[in-house]
Amino acid sequence: MRVIVCDNYEEVSKQAAKIVASQLVLKPDSVLGLATGSTPVGMYNILSEMNKNGEIDFKDVTSFNLDEYYPMAAEHDQSYRYFMNENLFNGININMENTHVLSGTTDDPEKECADFEKMIDAAGGIDLQVLGIGQNGHIGFNEPDTFLYANTHLTDLTENTIQANSRFFEKIEDVPTQALTMGIATILKSKRIIILASGSNKREAVTDLIEGEISTNNPASMLKVHNDVIVICDKEAYSK
Ligand code: F6R
Repeated sequence: MRVIVCDNYEEVSKQAAKIVASQLVLKPDSVLGLATGSTPVGMYNILSEMNKNGEIDFKDVTSFNLDEYYPMAAEHDQSYRYFMNENLFNGININMENTHVLSGTTDDPEKECADFEKMIDAAGGIDLQVLGIGQNGHIGFNEPDTFLYANTHLTDLTENTIQANSRFFEKIEDVPTQALTMGIATILKSKRIIILASGSNKREAVTDLIEGEISTNNPASMLKVHNDVIVICDKEAYSK
């Protein structure tokens, strides 16, 4: 695992955008795995700017998002589909039909998850997966537990995650208690992975990721078995 420690959030965003941009230069029809949350927003802004300037092209790109709240309508302003449209897709020349976000309104979550896995495989697998990290070490919505799921699945969110995500909702009762998420194997099958972290509230999770043992209580630690992972964080999130 390579670790890039940046001075601040802006640098984290720039470094991450550089890696995504170089991926698209090397393989214009790349399959990207994408994350929502606060952390990748800076990177998405830079990528949108680069696309406007003609430096990178999303025309042939396919994307798969890590997760979606359940239940949650795509039109809801806190859905991850809405987030992706607002923060990236509407500002770049990606073909919307090639963007895949799990449906938060499906009445058959099991089928939705199985179909999602099949679509990733049919696209040739994820070339570059972008991840954030939860304060509790979650990746996607794979929460710390005594066991983890391999494939895309419906999961309960932990109290810690509900608390952390309540900042986006009017009141904590509005935060969905479940989500559909890629599983650990779905993520690990990606050819390359970058994981972004910023701020002191991520320090424990990032330190555990880099220095800790592999444990299902720290889902991000599973990334240690992958041979092409780059952690991009700022000094507040990791100072060693
Ligand atoms: C989002 C996701 C989550 C976030 C994590 C960090 O799609 O899968 O694992 O990456 O909760 O969120 P932020 O960046 O808001 O701190």
